[in-house]
Amino acid sequence: MLVPRVFLTSEQIQKRIRDMGQQITKDYPDGPLYLIAILKGAFMFLADLSRSIRTPTRVEFIGISSYGQNKTTSGQVKVTKDLDVSIENHHVLIVEDIVDSGVTLTYLVNLLQQRRPKSLRIATLLDKPDRRMRPVDVTYVGFRIPDEFVVGYGLDYAEDYRNLSDICVLTEETPEAPA
Ligand code: PRP
Repeated sequence: MLVPRVFLTSEQIQKRIRDMGQQITKDYPDGPLYLIAILKGAFMFLADLSRSIRTPTRVEFIGISSYGQNKTTSGQVKVTKDLDVSIENHHVLIVEDIVDSGVTLTYLVNLLQQRRPKSLRIATLLDKPDRRMRPVDVTYVGFRIPDEFVVGYGLDYAEDYRNLSDICVLTEETPEAPA
């Protein structure tokens, strides 16, 4: 049986996001800053991060998937929903929930660079550096975490657990036999 065990509490997450928002506000004194969230996992992080940034922002979504129903990347990245607007000559901040192998962001950074933004940076809530297969330059990192499978706060396992307020480690536990 898979059991979610709390790894980062909602309070820890919210505090860290407020700090990230302050830093981003300082770094981008002038708007509009385009926040591009990667569906689906980043939806909750985007909601909180955007509210902690004081610079005028615009919110856009891009759908990218490489995991399907699996726990590890398939390496095959596909765009499931493209941007609705041009980002040419705008400051762009990609908002991601987790950087794991780096496959998703390597693909996305290449794609967005071709559209000539004024600047392009990445903010991720979680970073798992031990799993990196492709180097990714991430400017804003919420938490560096060990190689554990995490769910909650937008992150899923086969589409479950996204609505948890905490970030949890999913562990395999044997249910206790009834006495
Ligand atoms: C997850 C996560 C990141 C990506 C990170 O997305 O949300 O976008 O994987 O992994 P990587 O660094 O190994 O590429 P997923 O493909 O599971 O889609 P989802 O966000 O809809 O859950």
